[in-house]
Amino acid sequence: MGRTSFLPFARPDISEAEIEAVVAVLRSGWLTTGPETKAFEQEFARYIGVEHAVALNSCTAALHLALEAFGVGPGDEVLTSTMTFTATAEVVEYLGARTRFVDVDRDTLNLSAERLGELVSREYVRRNGEWRHRESGGRLRGLVPVHFGGHPCDLGALLDFAREHELVVVDDAAHALPASIEGRRVGAWDCASAFSFYATKTMTTGEGGMFCTNDEGLASRVRMMGLHGISRDAWKRYAADGSWHYEVVEAGYKYNLTDIAAALGRVQLRRLESMLERREAVAGGYDVGFRLIPEVETPQAQPGVKPAWHLYPIRLRLEQLQIDRRQFIAELHRRGIGTSVHFIPLHSQPFYAKRYGYDPGDFPVAEAEYPRLVSLPIYSGMTEADVDSVIGVVGEVVECFRA
Ligand SMILES: Cc1ncc(COP(=O)(O)O)c(C=O)c1O
Repeated sequence: MGRTSFLPFARPDISEAEIEAVVAVLRSGWLTTGPETKAFEQEFARYIGVEHAVALNSCTAALHLALEAFGVGPGDEVLTSTMTFTATAEVVEYLGARTRFVDVDRDTLNLSAERLGELVSREYVRRNGEWRHRESGGRLRGLVPVHFGGHPCDLGALLDFAREHELVVVDDAAHALPASIEGRRVGAWDCASAFSFYATKTMTTGEGGMFCTNDEGLASRVRMMGLHGISRDAWKRYAADGSWHYEVVEAGYKYNLTDIAAALGRVQLRRLESMLERREAVAGGYDVGFRLIPEVETPQAQPGVKPAWHLYPIRLRLEQLQIDRRQFIAELHRRGIGTSVHFIPLHSQPFYAKRYGYDPGDFPVAEAEYPRLVSLPIYSGMTEADVDSVIGVVGEVVECFRA
């Protein structure tokens, strides 16, 4: 079997409505942050069920500004998952703080309160009301959970853990739009959250992100620092009702979203539920198809949660195959199926390995699961025939290379 045309790993779902919305902005005379961005923020906040949403030019920017707004800085340590993209940890490093990677739960590949508790009691001591690392002496300040592939973490348990240890929580929700836990959307919990509108995500603005919180002080700090650290509504200074006068109150960043991107985002947001239904159908099709292929382990939704299905990472039972993951990916590619791998555990990447000196075996779950992971295509533009062809090709490769 195989395909006549290549099925890419990801493909944005852009309809005529997005194209028209972007063209209207191009014709409007106002391209950068403006009325479209403001409307996008309001609509996004309403959809999530959160008080404040600040549109930014990436999720990375939202993560960075959130940690900055919480005052994370040199001498601080932030816990996060090793099964993530570098953006999650690089923002900790931007601020001069230290990243403390944590191993993940075997089933979800997410952080769990149990593992966090084990790590803290092993590596930190309580001194003068603060948790201090036994070796570095750094102060435990924050937690950045990641919802791997769009399967939400147990945020209730993680927030309890954070409260108990007086940690700030910045939720990396790059994969989790729209995901919910017991009916409450990720983004609407008592923490700061950062969403991504990168081109491969569940909705896109090309590049873009959204910071969400119920804390007004946090939201206004993020808004101000995301636009050079200049006084409120600085983006209006060239508008009819704007003023030429502004005040620089901090050395901020240039992280604002354009109206071109926001117009695209507004249409994508309106289509998000229907795009989710399509991704759910793809996941459902894979679940059924792979039941007949025991060499493949499929991702499972946990009870009480609704995943965003950003990714569909299968795990190969390598002991039942003659080939490794690299060869498996090459065989799929040869037969017309694009794939990816999420993630090369971040603690093993050269920068972090050198900075923190981890040893093999420090993250047993991530190290055992990583060599088995392959992310299959899952996006709203996929047809039933596409899904069937992926199942067929995976079945064929397994058949050829069964141990
Ligand atoms: C888990 C995770 N966090 C953060 C990001 C960063 O998102 P952005 O590209 O919007 O900055 C990504 C991007 O792929 C991601 O996968």
